[in-house]
Amino acid sequence: MTEYKIALVGFGGVNRGLAQLIAERNAAWQAALGLSLKIVGVTDLFLGSIVDRNGLDAGQLVALPAEKGAFARLPGGTAEAFNETVIKQSGADIVAEATFTNPVDGEPAATFCRWALESGIHVVTTNKGPIALHGSELKALARRNNVAFEYEGAVMSGTPVIRLARQALAGAEIQGFEGILNGTSNYVLTRMKEGLSFDAAVAQAQQLGYAEADPSADVEGYDVRLKVVILANELLNAQLRVSDVACSGISAITAHDIAQASESGHCWKLIGAAQREADGSIRASVEARLLPAAHPLAAINGATNAVSFNTALVGTVTVSGPGAGRIETAFALLSDIIALHTTDRQ
Ligand SMILES: NC(=O)c1ccc[n+]([C@@H]2O[C@H](COP(=O)([O-])OP(=O)(O)OC[C@H]3O[C@@H](n4cnc5c(N)ncnc54)[C@H](OP(=O)(O)O)[C@@H]3O)[C@@H](O)[C@H]2O)c1
Repeated sequence: MTEYKIALVGFGGVNRGLAQLIAERNAAWQAALGLSLKIVGVTDLFLGSIVDRNGLDAGQLVALPAEKGAFARLPGGTAEAFNETVIKQSGADIVAEATFTNPVDGEPAATFCRWALESGIHVVTTNKGPIALHGSELKALARRNNVAFEYEGAVMSGTPVIRLARQALAGAEIQGFEGILNGTSNYVLTRMKEGLSFDAAVAQAQQLGYAEADPSADVEGYDVRLKVVILANELLNAQLRVSDVACSGISAITAHDIAQASESGHCWKLIGAAQREADGSIRASVEARLLPAAHPLAAINGATNAVSFNTALVGTVTVSGPGAGRIETAFALLSDIIALHTTDRQ
């Protein structure tokens, strides 16, 4: 049995979800997985930070109210987010990075990952920014320091598309993929098919907590573009930068377009895709596409995500599941930890 000491960077939905899983399931993991997790530090811009090398009470952390500086209420805690101290000096074997996604330069999360990797600490993250914008640098840094850098949750939350493609489809020769990689935009298109206008569907997505007050990252395709870069670089060995991916969203689609598509047995979907061309180059895009009813992604409705891998040996393999959710995404961190636990590292 291996006990990993873990530091949580960012303590919003996802890492609080991981702390909840630790509080509820550590004993079961020992028996089933041969590992357990001990939280030795937490840091968060809003809540502050806390370190205890002997281990913090996960249940107590989860119960902490989401109030500014709340860690100061715990013995040894402070209202300030001492990120560098928690990452480098809490004695952690693993850093779970779950701060906000910066789509412009991936910072400061990329720096948090660098600090950990340079210190010989494994990193698991759900944050698209560091991977889409600094992926090859951070992977090389992890290799040099003989530690893991894992990010299963960054593309489809708890639905394991990266490891499925990398491991279970290894040898099947993935030529490309098409995916519904943003639950909010798919929810909006689904509601429009049921008769709502674009604005009314967005308002409903906001009411349900799917869409931000500013929904542009979801409906203009920017969120999907980061995921396409991650998947293409990971699975097609591309060297894409975000600016290489042509990107348009769904905001120009009207109720009339949707009705016309339905009449001809088609539906509109926001598709993030990448394909290896005959000359070996990779073409990637994010755009609304009109899909025939028989397409494997046509039946994916609501906030669900899905991706179809086009392979040379087994044809099209499609996986669908949740693309968001605090526990679902925390599970992705657990799956990353299981992966690093079961990897031989000399
Ligand atoms: N939730 C999901 O379903 C999901 C799914 C897939 C991927 N992800 C990704 O996972 C990450 C975490 O998501 P989440 O839902 O947990 O977000 P969240 O609830 O907004 O939590 C993020 C936390 O990190 C803190 N933070 C921001 N900048 C920081 C910094 N510089 N140093 C320390 N703490 C900082 C935030 O504090 P403030 O509030 O003060 O900024 C907040 O408490 C994001 O990158 C997100 O895109 C989430």
